[in-house]
Amino acid sequence: MRMSVVLLLASFVLSLGGLFVFIASMTRDLFGTAEEGSRVIFAPDEEDTSEEPAASPADQARLQAEMRSVAAGGSSVEMSAADLAARIQADQSSAGPVLLCLSFAVLWLVLGSLAGLTSSLKLHLPDWLDGQAWLTFGRVRPAHLNAVIYGWSSLAGVGVALWLIPRLLKTELVGGRYAIAGAVLWNVGVAGGIAAILSGHSTGLEWLSFRFPPHACLPWVVR
Ligand code: HEM
Repeated sequence: MRMSVVLLLASFVLSLGGLFVFIASMTRDLFGTAEEGSRVIFAPDEEDTSEEPAASPADQARLQAEMRSVAAGGSSVEMSAADLAARIQADQSSAGPVLLCLSFAVLWLVLGSLAGLTSSLKLHLPDWLDGQAWLTFGRVRPAHLNAVIYGWSSLAGVGVALWLIPRLLKTELVGGRYAIAGAVLWNVGVAGGIAAILSGHSTGLEWLSFRFPPHACLPWVVR
């Protein structure tokens, strides 16, 4: 057996062993609780002290009272009906664009992972599916990369941001239909780019494989 194979096997066995040691120490509570952990990080007088720099003195006092009550075992103050209504309103305003972005992101994740799996198998079985040009490694691999980066990751990020921002800012999402139009356009671009890659039209540049549409398609665009 070659030395590199022995080293790889040894590091694999070592990491498996490490994983089992980690699981065993977790089951025996050797890592302690989050509360004990916070005692290591914070000084005794820092614990349960509110440090919200953006809060007004009145809000700061309310926060501090709340933290003391939770620390003393009391229950947390319930959200007021107005806060809850504002949260529901913020969520309702962003629901459409978020659902669209996340649904397409998941679709690209599934399609992209299938392309990844195909290219992964092709690394071991180079003769598999070699009858069709669009199924060759040189096309399926960039299709995988672009599907997961521009289809999955980007849309998932935008979807989460569209949900998070109205929630954090306690406001409604204004102009959600522009976000929907943007998401649709983005998906058309990703689908077109991947179709072009699979049909052999790519720049050949990693991460920038999508080609600019041919001049014949968009004659008014100056390049
Ligand atoms: C079942 C799921 C997946 C499989 C089987 C898979 C497999 C592969 C394979 C075989 C390659 C090419 C490696 C090479 O050419 O040496 C690759 C590249 C890559 N994959 Fe995946 N992949 C999967 C999911 C994902 C996901 C979910 C992401 C991102 C969120 C991702 C991101 C990438 C990136 C960035 C590359 C390019 C890496 C580079 O060459 O530097 N993959 N993947």
